[in-house]
Amino acid sequence: MTRQPYGLVQFVNDLRALTLQSPDPRVIVDRVGPLARDLALARTWLAPRHYECDAGQGFGAHLLHEEPDHTLAIFAGAWLPGRGAPPHNHGTWAVVAGVEGTERNVFWTRVDDGSRPGRADIRRVGDRMLGPGDVVTFQPESIHSVVNATALVTVSLHVYGKHVNYTTRSQFDPEQGTERAFILKVDEPSSSDDRRSRS
Ligand SMILES: [Fe+2]
Repeated sequence: MTRQPYGLVQFVNDLRALTLQSPDPRVIVDRVGPLARDLALARTWLAPRHYECDAGQGFGAHLLHEEPDHTLAIFAGAWLPGRGAPPHNHGTWAVVAGVEGTERNVFWTRVDDGSRPGRADIRRVGDRMLGPGDVVTFQPESIHSVVNATALVTVSLHVYGKHVNYTTRSQFDPEQGTERAFILKVDEPSSSDDRRSRS
């Protein structure tokens, strides 16, 4: 019997099952990680349009799936050469798997007490290069930034507990010491039939 290549529909079914088994984001990301790696390497879902980037924000966010209540959101992220995303959190668990090229993930920690509206102090604590099949996981308040320092567009697979434009989350400016909302410009297929993978 030939094993079918791992695809988006099976991945979504696996996400539904494992998030029913445990609500703990630490448990969830540990279980999603290997599956996201398999899906990233299988590339069964990847299309030429997923390489398109928004020049204004420096990257493209292509929605592959979300549930009707905005949970289990899956994106193809494409990054322009020399561009990236500012430090941000997600307000939900997140798993990122490299698909094409190598992206630098920089990790930050918040060191203030959050008592001043619009202000935040964050410190850089490490970084990691993310290549094809590499996986990085985040808890809801984890902070990272992303840079594509290569000469080509990079692509990565992003899986979130909830679509990040429907969570309360922030972007941070470490030099100015500020915190503000972080809303993505998202490429969403116009048809809801395309948007939600059938099971
Ligand atoms: Fe992120």
